[in-house]
Amino acid sequence: MTRTQVVIVGAGPAGLLLGQLLHKEGIDTLILERRSAEYVGGRIRAGVLEQGTVDVLEHAGVASRLRSEGLVHDGVEIGFRGRRHRIDLKALTGKAVTVYGQTEVTHDLMNARAASGAPSVYEAEDVALHGLDGSSARVTYTHRGVAHEVSCDFVAGCDGFHGVSRRSIPASLLKIFERVYPFGWLGLLADVRPPWNELIYASSDRGFALASMRSPTRVRCYVQCSLDDRVENWSDEQFWDEFRRRIGEEFASQVPTVPSLEKSIAPLRSFVAEPMRYGRLFLAGDAAHIVPPTGAKGLNLAVSDVLYLYEALRGHYRERSASSLDDYSPRCLRRIWRAERFSWWMTSQLHSQPEDAFGLRMQQTELEYLFDSHAAQISMAENYVGLPF
Ligand code: APR
Ligand code: PHB
Repeated sequence: MTRTQVVIVGAGPAGLLLGQLLHKEGIDTLILERRSAEYVGGRIRAGVLEQGTVDVLEHAGVASRLRSEGLVHDGVEIGFRGRRHRIDLKALTGKAVTVYGQTEVTHDLMNARAASGAPSVYEAEDVALHGLDGSSARVTYTHRGVAHEVSCDFVAGCDGFHGVSRRSIPASLLKIFERVYPFGWLGLLADVRPPWNELIYASSDRGFALASMRSPTRVRCYVQCSLDDRVENWSDEQFWDEFRRRIGEEFASQVPTVPSLEKSIAPLRSFVAEPMRYGRLFLAGDAAHIVPPTGAKGLNLAVSDVLYLYEALRGHYRERSASSLDDYSPRCLRRIWRAERFSWWMTSQLHSQPEDAFGLRMQQTELEYLFDSHAAQISMAENYVGLPF
């Protein structure tokens, strides 16, 4: 049996970033990831970073490519009934956001992990957590057919929504809050120069659409679709036709039908599990909470959890502070619920549910109020750029 200080389950952005921060602090970690490194590095996810997230990545020493390749956006646009309204993030809050794909963040973190020499096991099967409520924890797993066992002080559950960590907490101790929305997003990635300078979140009679980008030569676009829809039902041509109908006239004529590099459907969900600690286990990122992607808060929340967990563990090891670990879950949840509120609000205001006539009027009234009220714009902008870490 081997020993380490912290076993990190999951090598998504949460697990990798925690590993990097703890490594810099001289705290030993072992990362256990179920998938292969190629699979983890190839996943396409969102790509808008709050300034707080950029600051943490800087602190972790993984921001050099982000600094040179990230696109700083001072504003974001809301499309409504064919017209567009710009929310001037910089003027309203003094802050901007950085467009830099989560796939790139993950690559930077994987490279840093490899360079640090700290151990990671990819394709670790049957990860199981033991002794979480005792005086020391153990983690067992199988790798290439060989059974392994590691003893540790703490386990960081960074294994996403479908991971083993949250399920290792007795159900009677967890309170779950959840909302599943009656629609999904069909996303398409393509190599073409984005005709828009800033992201456009568009509400239209045919449903929501989002015009985003990954780089000066790559776009990421989405259309709201039904939950039972399938990627196979959508040719690239059909996607672009529908996107053009929703995004508003100005850009409809500027969007060429380019072949997709990737196309996928994701359901929209709000989810929070409380508390985020059980004895020696700490949940972080998607393992504890999910936000719908409208507002791009998922990765940013994972980063604030990880910062707080890093600070809690540093407090424990460095200062022998007992309270730092106790503060972890309440500290995370305060910020998480605010991002949950904002993501739920953005989602509710921009997606179509034509059968709900009262809801439609409320959406219309909310958006008109947003466009007319400086106070409403400040509120939206301060949430979009990210509430303080
Ligand atoms: N054992 C080991 N690893 C596991 C297990 C398991 N039983 N179950 C899941 N994993 C791995 C997954 O393969 C994945 O690589 O845990 C990792 C979790 O990574 P993410 O799902 O990316 O979650 P997280 O790191 O919290 O990142 C949050 O990702 O989903 C987006 O919107 C979300 O942007 C946010 C970010
Ligand atoms: C993306 O570029 O994939 C993206 C951007 C903003 C969002 C969601 C997704 O709110």
